[in-house]
Amino acid sequence: MMVASEAAQLLQWTESHMPLMRDIAREFEETQPFRGIRIGVSLHLEVKTAVLLLALRRGGADVVAAGNYGTSQDDIVALLRENGVDARGSGSESREKHLATVRSVVESMPDVLLDNGADLLKLAIDLGVSVLGATEETTSGHMRLTTELASLVHVPVIVINDSPLKAIVENKHAVGQSVYESFCRLTNLMPQSRSMLVVGYGWCGRGIAYYAKANGAHVCVAEVDEIKAMEAAVDGFRVGSVEEMISGVDVVITATGSQNVVGETAIARMRDGVLLANAGHFDWEIDLAAIDAVTLERTPLGHTIERHVLEDGRTVDVIARGRMMNLAGPQPKGNSIESMDLGFAMQALSLERIVRAHDNLPLGAQPVPDDINRELARRFVEAVHSSVGTDDGSRGLPDRQE
Ligand code: NAI
Repeated sequence: MMVASEAAQLLQWTESHMPLMRDIAREFEETQPFRGIRIGVSLHLEVKTAVLLLALRRGGADVVAAGNYGTSQDDIVALLRENGVDARGSGSESREKHLATVRSVVESMPDVLLDNGADLLKLAIDLGVSVLGATEETTSGHMRLTTELASLVHVPVIVINDSPLKAIVENKHAVGQSVYESFCRLTNLMPQSRSMLVVGYGWCGRGIAYYAKANGAHVCVAEVDEIKAMEAAVDGFRVGSVEEMISGVDVVITATGSQNVVGETAIARMRDGVLLANAGHFDWEIDLAAIDAVTLERTPLGHTIERHVLEDGRTVDVIARGRMMNLAGPQPKGNSIESMDLGFAMQALSLERIVRAHDNLPLGAQPVPDDINRELARRFVEAVHSSVGTDDGSRGLPDRQE
């Protein structure tokens, strides 16, 4: 755990690179959209989330927050409490205690919810707690809202994950960057000149392939959707099936969301010494049961890599047993500050929209309103232009006196 001053310094560093949230916090302070409103929150409690929750607080909200199971950073929870957020729970609590913490957020009778996986909304429905509406961070929450909870949700729920802004900036660029960073951090190897197979050319796969190629890896792509496979081909990647290409690569990274995309046939064809990793949400993309079935010996090599010696003498190295590689190992950074700035700016403005206009919004799951997407896209471009040089070599800042 960090000492309190370190947590405050980290917050300061993070805030200084979240220009959208900085502006929104300033606007909220003036307009007080959440005065008299309690916001119940379920979100990974780390420093970037702290910036969001403190902005809601500045907008007048009473914020009651629980983290995700096992991931709350206790120093950040303490920092939030010092700054008036009712942050509950800790990273070391048991699953039962964590569920009780989440339940206590709903029992605090929030007016709106900032939800994650629809956990709060499901509890609110079960406990008969009525809310004006909610925002939902994840795809899995969206799935629940449109299936098991569809007939039970009678309030607007804005799903942040469906925004095209998030797909471009977070799934493509932030995941691409963090998977590249994680490959280097976890293996301490050079990606340059290594041959790499990226499985899936959706938003995450595009980013992973792009960052790996830009850093000198020889990348090929396996994609089942013909149109995305064509896109990969015209983006300059060799395209084929996993089974066709796996024998020629040193590294395989999966990013599909599907099960067993590296299956038995592919495993039989892998070259000796191949490294397997996954960036998809579930740890089921590499068929580890099939690898285990032909493994003679499994040896941990450092924190996150395990070497399998197979019956036929080949070795296979697997990162983090196929869990998300960019959240594995010591000091995973998660997605870049700027991408979370954008994602949380969508959260903040969507919550404001729920509070101000819940009566005029459709009921149930819905995308981020188009005007919010466009406003934030415009602000993001402005922020990028103000921090990078322009083509003529000058800073993209307004004229300044030297
Ligand atoms: P997406 O839907 O844009 O792309 C997935 C792609 O995989 C699709 O093009 C699909 O056709 C392809 N695919 C599915 N099965 C395949 C197979 N057997 N072989 C080859 N291609 C196959 O989804 P997105 O946004 O790229 O997300 C992919 C996964 O990454 C999801 O599980 C998502 O939850 C996860 N994710 C991980 C993050 C991280 O930080 N590691 C962040 C965001 C998403």
